[in-house]
Amino acid sequence: MKKLWGGRFTKTAEEWVDEFGASISFDQELVMEDIEGSMAHVQMLASTGILSQEEAATIKSGLIKLQQKAENHELQFSVSNEDIHMNLESMLIAEIGPVGGKLHTGRSRNDQVATDMHLYLRNRTEEVIALIAEMQNALLQKASDHVETIFPGYTHLQRAQPVSFAHHLMAYFWMLERDKERFKESFKRINKSPLGAGALAGTTFPIDRELSAELLGFSSIYENSLDAVSDRDFIVEFLSNSSMLMMHLSRLGEEIILWCSREFQFIELDDAFSTGSSIMPQKKNPDMAELIRGKTGRVYGNLFGLLTVLKGLPLAYNKDMQEDKEGMFDTVKTITGSLKIFTGMISTLKVKSTEMKKAVTSDFSNATELADYLASKGMPFRDAHEVVGHLVLACIQKDCYLADLTLDEFQSASGLFEEDIYKALDPYTAVARRNSAGGTGFAQVEAAIAKAKTLLEN
Ligand code: ARG
Repeated sequence: MKKLWGGRFTKTAEEWVDEFGASISFDQELVMEDIEGSMAHVQMLASTGILSQEEAATIKSGLIKLQQKAENHELQFSVSNEDIHMNLESMLIAEIGPVGGKLHTGRSRNDQVATDMHLYLRNRTEEVIALIAEMQNALLQKASDHVETIFPGYTHLQRAQPVSFAHHLMAYFWMLERDKERFKESFKRINKSPLGAGALAGTTFPIDRELSAELLGFSSIYENSLDAVSDRDFIVEFLSNSSMLMMHLSRLGEEIILWCSREFQFIELDDAFSTGSSIMPQKKNPDMAELIRGKTGRVYGNLFGLLTVLKGLPLAYNKDMQEDKEGMFDTVKTITGSLKIFTGMISTLKVKSTEMKKAVTSDFSNATELADYLASKGMPFRDAHEVVGHLVLACIQKDCYLADLTLDEFQSASGLFEEDIYKALDPYTAVARRNSAGGTGFAQVEAAIAKAKTLLEN
């Protein structure tokens, strides 16, 4: 089949070579963005008088037909037309005749593909921001129900100090808030128009780049034509933001996996987000959380893949850059899917507050309370730490916990201990008293939830 660029060739490539170089199998994902970009381009060509109003109107009507066909999945793409841009152009010519060939005036596939990618990521970034907010909302709702649900906070995966379960969930809310900010921040750089940069050097036609940018809703244009067609930073940034997001999701995923194990028993996942085993009838597996933990790897891989493609690449366009797409599409699919799954999983999970409570009563996570108690009565904290360390050791030897010691035993360790020590050892008191800014004290958690609610509403 004759190529749109076939003029200087005497021989056509074999089909398998064409197939290797073609991107249509994946860049058809850009069909709507490509048509949108062409619409703006042709309108600009008409406004500047480069094309007549009639020519532009014919081209536009052809593009609208293609748009409708695309919506109905009626377009038949072919590998011999290589990519989405040339497939659509040849379909346009088939639809409206040779005038369709005027669409590409003052434009190159290099600024065209860059424009498509900006439009695509702009839409997807908005979608991702909305999905992050939905997951934050799920965390917030769950947290609101569990301000006074106490469970062990860990360091080194060893029980450390009791915390409010809501406080723990809210930690993820704030991580997601930063992720959202990162996507919002990078939106500025995505929302720039490369259209009109031509192949690399601009064009001899009196085009109006500002106009086509405005028609596409871009807030500015690239200053430099070489940069415009070579820049893929905006995709790297999206992949980097996505990697950070997945890193956060995988940490929550890991905790969910731990929490629903028999060893922790802190939560139960809804059946809708769990799977069974083909052999072990008793199994209820947290597959979705595991899968998201696993998918984090492919998102990191996509980031590193693109960084490596771009490393050392000379200006301007090189075919290497066609490799920017699959990882980006895959990342969009992975992060949007993961966010939706997590939103559902969090809203439906059951919190086993009795098990959680048990975990903070039969352990030493209240030891810091004792040290703080002595320190607040004037003993240097370092000495208090030592006194309590001995008490913990004594308990371990007697196979009991701190609250099981008698007042005499406490007082023989330090004369500062009084009857109110038992109150201080209560995990509920321990949490309630951690009222420093951003701490787990109930008043702090309530305030954080209220603040987070207003943030989400705005
Ligand atoms: N399919 C190509 C890509 O995605 C479009 C740009 C092609 N430009 C070129 N000069 N071969 O990168």
